[in-house]
Amino acid sequence: MSKPSFVLITGASYGLGEEYALQLAQRGKRLLLTARSQARLESLVPGLLAAGAPEVRLVVADLAADGVAVLTRYIAAEQLEIELLINNAGFGGGGEFAQCDPARQLAMIDVNVRALVALSRALLPAMRERQSGAIMNLGSVASFQPGPYGATYAATKAFVLSFSLALWQEYRGYGVHIMAVCPGYTDTHFFAAANLAPPRGVYMQSAAQVVTESLRALDRRKPYIVPGAPNRWLVRASRLAPRLWVVKVTARWMRTRWQR
Ligand SMILES: NC(=O)c1ccc[n+]([C@@H]2O[C@H](COP(=O)([O-])OP(=O)(O)OC[C@H]3O[C@@H](n4cnc5c(N)ncnc54)[C@H](OP(=O)(O)O)[C@@H]3O)[C@@H](O)[C@H]2O)c1
Repeated sequence: MSKPSFVLITGASYGLGEEYALQLAQRGKRLLLTARSQARLESLVPGLLAAGAPEVRLVVADLAADGVAVLTRYIAAEQLEIELLINNAGFGGGGEFAQCDPARQLAMIDVNVRALVALSRALLPAMRERQSGAIMNLGSVASFQPGPYGATYAATKAFVLSFSLALWQEYRGYGVHIMAVCPGYTDTHFFAAANLAPPRGVYMQSAAQVVTESLRALDRRKPYIVPGAPNRWLVRASRLAPRLWVVKVTARWMRTRWQR
């Protein structure tokens, strides 16, 4: 008997993860959702079933702790096939590095990088074996340049893009698609979670716009996408300009916009 096929979305309780769950429910996908906020996850289930998901399962897990082990044990015990893994969970934070909470900086690496690598490593072998499946990793426009006053966050997102493109090349011959999604400012819970003032007077997309664009890019098997034309111009311009000049300009921007 074939195993039931699910989309696994990390960080599904808010923001982009919640929207991925909704749009994939509308595509009739079975969903396996994870985050730490149990009540919030549970409150989403009726809407997702009504939107078209045949089944929604929840696993409450902390990806800065033992969350990956909890998830992989559940998937093995339930004998689930994961057709699409969306490594979306993540958080940021701003401020001068020497004054940042060191535990929070390391937890950022655990969630944004370590859990993403561990889940990819755990689920890729079955995809490779089946010669089908996909992994979508959440990077950022910050993936493209260093981010003074948000140094750790930008570095985690640079890792995500580099890692994703490398795996895209490794697995494209196996029918497994790996891609990075690199949004700019998006109107989600992200800023509140990072204790940052929501940026004003900037180009800001909705979660629905980012998710729609990125699922379209997934359908077209693009290796990465920067949603939103102004974000694409910004990334292109920053890649043409001298690297250290970009770092200096980014520092000026981050100091004023990313600190309370
Ligand atoms: N919003 C933006 O402007 C923006 C721009 C570029 C990239 N991104 C990236 O997009 C992704 C989604 O962010 P978002 O904007 O949707 O932010 P969000 O609304 O704050 O959602 C973040 C999600 O990550 C989960 N999460 C955080 N820490 C976790 C942990 N330790 N263990 C398990 N889950 C955890 C949260 O769930 P719980 O709190 O319930 O655990 C939440 O569901 C992130 O990777 C972010 O870096 C966002």
